Formats: sequence, C-alpha cells, structure tokens
Amino acid sequence: MRKYDVLIIGAGIAGLYAAMNLPRSKKVLVICKDVPWECNTFYAQGGMVTALDKDDIPLHIQDTIEAGAFHNNREAVEILSRTSLETTADIIAKGMEFDRDEEGRLLYTKEAAHSVGRIVHAGGDATGRYMHYFMMVQNKHELQRNTLVYDLLIENGRCYGVKATVNYRPSTIYADDVIIASGGVGSLYQYNTNSRTVSADIHGICVKKGIELADMEMMQFHPTVFVKTPYARKLLLTEALRGEGAHIVNEKGERFLFGYDERGELAGRDIVSRAIFNYKRQYKNEEVYLDFSMFDEARFHQRFPNITRTFASLGYRFPQQRVPISPAFHYAIGGIRSDMNGCIDGIEGLYVIGEAASTGVHGANRLASNSLLEGVVFAKRAVDFIMGKEQNTRQIPLFDEDYGNILHKDNDAAYKDRLRQVMWENVGIIRTKNGLHEAKNMIYDMKSKQIGRLLRLRLNTASAIVDAALRRKISLGTHYIEN
Ligand code: SIN
Repeated sequence: MRKYDVLIIGAGIAGLYAAMNLPRSKKVLVICKDVPWECNTFYAQGGMVTALDKDDIPLHIQDTIEAGAFHNNREAVEILSRTSLETTADIIAKGMEFDRDEEGRLLYTKEAAHSVGRIVHAGGDATGRYMHYFMMVQNKHELQRNTLVYDLLIENGRCYGVKATVNYRPSTIYADDVIIASGGVGSLYQYNTNSRTVSADIHGICVKKGIELADMEMMQFHPTVFVKTPYARKLLLTEALRGEGAHIVNEKGERFLFGYDERGELAGRDIVSRAIFNYKRQYKNEEVYLDFSMFDEARFHQRFPNITRTFASLGYRFPQQRVPISPAFHYAIGGIRSDMNGCIDGIEGLYVIGEAASTGVHGANRLASNSLLEGVVFAKRAVDFIMGKEQNTRQIPLFDEDYGNILHKDNDAAYKDRLRQVMWENVGIIRTKNGLHEAKNMIYDMKSKQIGRLLRLRLNTASAIVDAALRRKISLGTHYIEN
C-alpha cells in the first residue's frame, strides 16, 4: 500500500512552496498530471506582488480591495499583504533571483489598478518560469509525473487519499493529509491563457462530494491576449507592458479606452476586458491592438525577452509592430471554499491552496500579480497548520467503488469543444440571463449522454459556474450581466 504523510496535488507555485516548507522528516509526494512545468505558474509573466515594506501594507490592501469591488474577505487580504514581507524574504534568502538594477536593488513594476510599483519579476517577463524552476530545484520530496486524480477518497468527513491514473494505470495513493493545489478551470473556455492541464477535474469531484465551491461566477478575463494561434493556450501579453507605457488602440491608432474609464489602459482588468469586448461588438469586429512602438527597442528586448522571442517566431517585430489582441479567460477567482489555513470545512485532512482555492482574497476581481503571492502565502499557512496540529492516523476504510476504467469515451472531445464554446459565448465577459439558461440546458443535456468521468467532472464545474452566475442577478467585478 502506498501511503504518505502529505500528498500534494499539483506542482505549480502553491504545491511546490508547500513542499519546500514541509521538512524532510515527512514522507511527502507531489503529483502532477503531466510534466511539472505544464502549470499556470510556468506561464505567468508579469511578476509577484509584494508589499514594499510595512508602510505599503495598507495601500496594497486598499488596492486589492478596490480592484476586488469590495467583495473581498478583508482578513484574507490582510494576511496576504502582511505575510508577503516574510515569504518574499524567504524565497530570496533561499536563492531566488528577481531582476535587479545595476546597484543590486530589486526592480519593481506596476500593473493596472496598483497605486505604486510593487511587483517583483524575473527573467524580464518570465517570472513564473523562473520561480517554477527555482522551486523545482529546491524541492526535496518525491515528485511524480503523469498522475491524474479522478477521485478523492473521503468517508465520514475524513479524506484518506486519492484514486489516480499513474502512467494511465489506475492506482490508489493514501495520505494523512491531502493538499489540493491543482489550479483553476482554464480548459472550460475556448480562449484561455492557461496550461492545457488546468481542467477543473478536482473542482468537479468536490461538486460531486458536496464540498462547497465559492464565488464561481467570478471568472477573470485578461484584456491583452493574442488568440490567433491554433493551440489551446493563447498567448498572454503581460499587463506590465501597459503598466510601463504600452497603449491599447483601434485600427486608426486611437486610444479609445478613455471613453470607457478615465484611467484608460490602467483601469482594472475587468473594465479593460469589457471595454475591448464592447468596442469589437460595436465596431463589428474591428481589430484592437496593443501598441508599444513608443518603447526604446533595446530596452524592450531586455525587459520583455520572452514576449519578443515568442512573437518573433510568429513573424512580429517588437516593439515596432503592434499586435492584435482580444480578452481571454485567465484566472478562476472562485474555487473550493477554504479557511485562512487552507482547511475545507467538514473534511478532515483535506486542504486547498492557490488558484484552486477560494479564500475570498481576490473579491470579485483579482488585482494583477496577486496570484503568485497568494500561492506562496496560503501554501505556507496550510503547511504551518498541518505541522502544528495533532496527528491522528486512523484505520483506512475500504474504498471499493468500481469506476469501470471509463475516464474517457469516444465522443468526449466533441462535447468538450462544444462546452468550451458555450462557456466562452454565454458564460464569458458579458453574460445575459437567457445565455446563462442556454448554457445550463446544454450542460444538463451533455450530462445525460454517454460520457467519460473526466468530462463529467468538467461539466460539474461548469454547472457550478453557471448556477453561481444565475444566482448573482446584479453585475459585480468580473461578473457582468446585461439585461
Ligand atoms: C500578467 O502578466 O499580465 C498576468 C499577471 C496576472 O495575471 O496577475
């Protein structure tokens, strides 16, 4: 029997920082669905917020809550900001190299809705990749790839482990404590910036088990994404570009965003996404562009090397050429409800951290670059909780559900495409009551078909999003409803 002290589902920043904080004396297993770098952390560009010092904490809290449309859990925001001083110092002390100026001082960038520059970054615009690599190198625990969780083993209010396929073979992994750090729901949307592994399976298991999801209507769309590629993951153009002076323009080169919000490009990302969506709708799909022609070429290449390289391979010469953009799904604000230590009410031994969790920290709209910080802060708190609690190992019950080896069925791919389309069109940036009802019916209909378990889990999560959107009748933050 494979049994661990702690099992961590997910090898993004939250999962890896949790592993970094668990001592060698604990038997820990980190699992990921594919290769470890297929996670949202790896693709994060802009950076990680950190309060600059004690004096910046109130302003960071205020910025987070204003961006969040005052829907935030204030306690979570205070924890996030206060703990950032400690976690950022810890990561740097352990060897993470953020970008610095010639005198060795940390460089901070600014993104939309921040009052000051307080975002550390690495490799210019490859912060996620650098942090992920750093944490992989730091990880001292066993890490297992190709491990896809398809059930949580829960009985009488206690979690005992998971059922998963390991290299496509069904397997059972037991653990005293199971930490969910599996990310959000990107694969539910036709246009998204997420890793292809982020497909809401664990949320779907939670729905089935009656574990509460919270704020699921709050799905965040990033305004500046290049969507004209054939791949599922669309290409992000970091908000730091706008923070450092790039413009959003129409075909005539006009900065039309001021017609929507006086802050123009620096309004919150929900506002900018909606403005672009509305503009395209009004002007019959006229293109909208991100323009950085005002940047000095050498400086642009040095500051944004990842974007420069990626787009050069598509034939773009930056910063001279502007690039067509569209909003795309980016981040799940809602998730599995947890308390401030990652605990899930009513289930002993089960925790959730990072994007998979809903602590209320982001309110109705996440402030840019608060998510890498969320990953580390709440990972640390969950580990502190696990290390501090009384360990009470119990007899493991028999889990003998027969899943019949039917994770996938023949028509799943076509249904998944339809689901992605309906979520994008009806449960996206601008929603209507009718559109939401249409999506609800379509999801209900798909659930009645012969489908595999993984698609069924995805549909559970989609239903949770649609139901939450239908319950919230008035627009708030990222949830925008038109009559
Ligand atoms: C970006 O670099 O624009 C993304 C940052 C974030 O999602 O917080």
